[in-house]
Amino acid sequence: MEYRQLGKSDLNVSVIGYGAWGIGGEPFWSTEGETSSIRSIEKAIDLGINFYDTAPVYGFGYSEELLGKALQSKRKDVIIATKCGLVWKKEELKAIRKRATRESILEEIELSLKRLCTDYIDLYQVHWPDEDTPIEETMNTLLQAQKEGKIRYIGVSNYSVAQIEESLKFGQIVSLQPMYSMLERDVEQDRLPFCIENEIGIICYSPLASGVLTGKYDENTKFKDWRGQGIIGNFTGEVYVSHIKKVKKIAEIAQKYEKTLAQLAINWLLHQQGVSTAIVGVKTPDQVEQNMGAVGWEISNNDLKGISGILEEGC
Ligand SMILES: NC(=O)c1ccc[n+]([C@@H]2O[C@H](COP(=O)([O-])OP(=O)(O)OC[C@H]3O[C@@H](n4cnc5c(N)ncnc54)[C@H](OP(=O)(O)O)[C@@H]3O)[C@@H](O)[C@H]2O)c1
Repeated sequence: MEYRQLGKSDLNVSVIGYGAWGIGGEPFWSTEGETSSIRSIEKAIDLGINFYDTAPVYGFGYSEELLGKALQSKRKDVIIATKCGLVWKKEELKAIRKRATRESILEEIELSLKRLCTDYIDLYQVHWPDEDTPIEETMNTLLQAQKEGKIRYIGVSNYSVAQIEESLKFGQIVSLQPMYSMLERDVEQDRLPFCIENEIGIICYSPLASGVLTGKYDENTKFKDWRGQGIIGNFTGEVYVSHIKKVKKIAEIAQKYEKTLAQLAINWLLHQQGVSTAIVGVKTPDQVEQNMGAVGWEISNNDLKGISGILEEGC
């Protein structure tokens, strides 16, 4: 495993991180059950994955609870990243709201610490910007929690450059967590160069485009989970069909290296300047093991050019 420093922090994160959204299960994902989820975390530890990303909203607390259970005895050896700013009154997708007020965050931290069976969170990230709460209020609350030792570092997710700039007026931010994969490259326009210049680490979420870059879906797939609901990402319509066409061509390049498409997609992402880690969404020990094949080898310059050509083709 390779490790990279996360922004200006002293966190040395494994380049493949453990994305714990999937193990949270319903209402977003289906899982193979708690035993398989716990084993996948244990497998990740064995293989040198030290970075675990979760959020209260993943399974409405369940993902954090599972991580707490599985990581308790390894607490000092792992880096736990969780989030704040999404709250719910009912355990339903439609009931989730953005809320990054002082009162709400202080309550969220206590609940996360309890579920994660820990007395500190290494990286605490604002999940989505809350347009109704001044960034000053959010940042001052996080800085207070940092002073009290409840969180070690502050990160943000899904923030624009302007929102990061505003946050930096009040204190240090060590990371941005954007959606970033071969198929979702908007971040390269503005946030990536900004973060490189300001030494802010990039934690790529949905590095396999939530499964599309594994090659296991085709143009006829109808997703029954959150992916079929058009909330985030492109899993229906013309853009999806265009993605599938690209995926098929890129899979041929992966074959040349005797690698899976997923391994090539993660390797490509880790090759992009500014990237600290790719948090891959996994639920089984086998997936964790397979994804390890993404590190320790290089895509040739010629194939990198070939991949760029495929990705730049229009819909
Ligand atoms: N900050 C945010 O707003 C935000 C948003 C989304 C995600 N995230 C974070 O990013 C992490 C990853 O994102 P993600 O879950 O959307 O997507 P992802 O990592 O792009 O893809 C996950 C999907 O890939 C499949 N997969 C993984 N390894 C595989 C393997 N070796 N073979 C076959 N299939 C494999 C899983 O399939 P199965 O479903 O069949 O198991 C799963 O559906 C999340 O867990 C979460 O920590 C953050």
